[in-house]
Amino acid sequence: MSSPASRISEQDRQQSNVQSYIFLLCVVAFSVISYIFNSIQGMEGTAANPFTSGTKTNLRPKGSSKLDKFLSSDNSWEPFNSTNPHANSWCPKATCLNSPLCRPCERRHFFIFSTARSGSTTLLRMFNALPNMRLAGENHNEMWYLSEMTNNLVRNRPKILKHKEDKPTGPFAHNYIPDGSMACVAQNALHNLNPPPMAIQQNKDFNMEEYDRNLILGFKGVRLHHGNWTGQEAADYIKSHFPCSRVVINYQTNVTHQYESFKRTFNHTDGGVYLGPSKEELRANNDWQREFWNNLGSEMAWLIDMDKWTQDVGILNKVVNWLGYENCAFKAIAHENDKGYAPDTKTDLDLGENCLYRYI
Ligand SMILES: *[C@@H]1O[C@H](CO)[C@@H](O)[C@H](O)[C@H]1NC(C)=O
Ligand SMILES: *[C@@H]1O[C@H](CO)[C@@H](O)[C@H](O)[C@H]1NC(C)=O
Ligand SMILES: *[C@@H]1O[C@H](CO)[C@@H](O)[C@H](O)[C@H]1NC(C)=O
Ligand SMILES: *[C@@H]1O[C@H](CO)[C@@H](O)[C@H](O)[C@H]1NC(C)=O
Repeated sequence: MSSPASRISEQDRQQSNVQSYIFLLCVVAFSVISYIFNSIQGMEGTAANPFTSGTKTNLRPKGSSKLDKFLSSDNSWEPFNSTNPHANSWCPKATCLNSPLCRPCERRHFFIFSTARSGSTTLLRMFNALPNMRLAGENHNEMWYLSEMTNNLVRNRPKILKHKEDKPTGPFAHNYIPDGSMACVAQNALHNLNPPPMAIQQNKDFNMEEYDRNLILGFKGVRLHHGNWTGQEAADYIKSHFPCSRVVINYQTNVTHQYESFKRTFNHTDGGVYLGPSKEELRANNDWQREFWNNLGSEMAWLIDMDKWTQDVGILNKVVNWLGYENCAFKAIAHENDKGYAPDTKTDLDLGENCLYRYI
């Protein structure tokens, strides 16, 4: 049975058995030490940290201890990473600061930021006709108020958001707040203002998160430039808090035309005095829109001029194409809001039967 060759391999086997045994011992020893170490840390944490509500699971979620990590088969998992789920479609250049609290690029957004009296309700109705899109209307500049929620801290208590670890003691005590996680607070607030239809909400067979999963959500607004911020600051906020977005920026380059529309539509006259915006103010708004557009960049934003697109539906079809829709083309411009706030029910918004957004 025992040729010299098989004897050598028998020796090898014994040797490797011994090696395995030593390795196993090391693993057990390491596990025991880790367990003791973590238990002690856990006890200290409970005593010192007022933010953990006493239970051990709160303090050390599964998967967070060195032991759990060691025993876990998924060694590549990184809780804080920059994976972009829409890198090949909606937001190729987005910075995605993912954390267990928030994955800011998960949800795709579409916004129409316009000046007033510039056809934005028409744009809302037309872009809402695109598949996989649900846009709400005005929300009185909630976007700016949401930015204040983050910026209040950035301006006054920057350390709260910048602390790279738990801060268990002191008047500003808090656990680690991951970079980028305020994005989900802002996104959820806007989703709350743009929910699924009531019939869906009333149907127990629908889960709201499921229902919205493949949708692109957003709204149109005419007040972004009325927030107390520059076009650049607004762009920075959108990029950091709504990183997976496309933005259509609309204005009217002929401010005389816009001014006349203001005078006609709103009763700004008080004893014959016009209280609406001056042409200079309208020009300043347009400058703000351009600055906003420049800072968002061409990956994220497209600037359109009402004086041009109302004459040429091809301009809006270029935007539709840029968004990544295929075989979709408007045949005509809808005329929402033409006479004050009269809705247009006549214009055919059919985009063609092969209209498709492939990246759902
Ligand atoms: C990236 O981070 C998110 C949030 O923590 C997590 O859900 C995801 O699994 C992580 N991805 C990788 C590859 O680690
Ligand atoms: C607008 O912002 C500037 C600079 O951030 C600040 O100094 C000023 O007080 C703000 N104005 C209002 C009305 O909030
Ligand atoms: C701008 O609008 C005014 C008022 O509607 C119009 O009379 C004028 O011709 C327009 N200017 C241009 C350059 O189109
Ligand atoms: C607008 O204001 C003027 C002057 O105050 C008033 O005479 C007129 O009736 C108002 N028009 C409308 C439509 O409210």
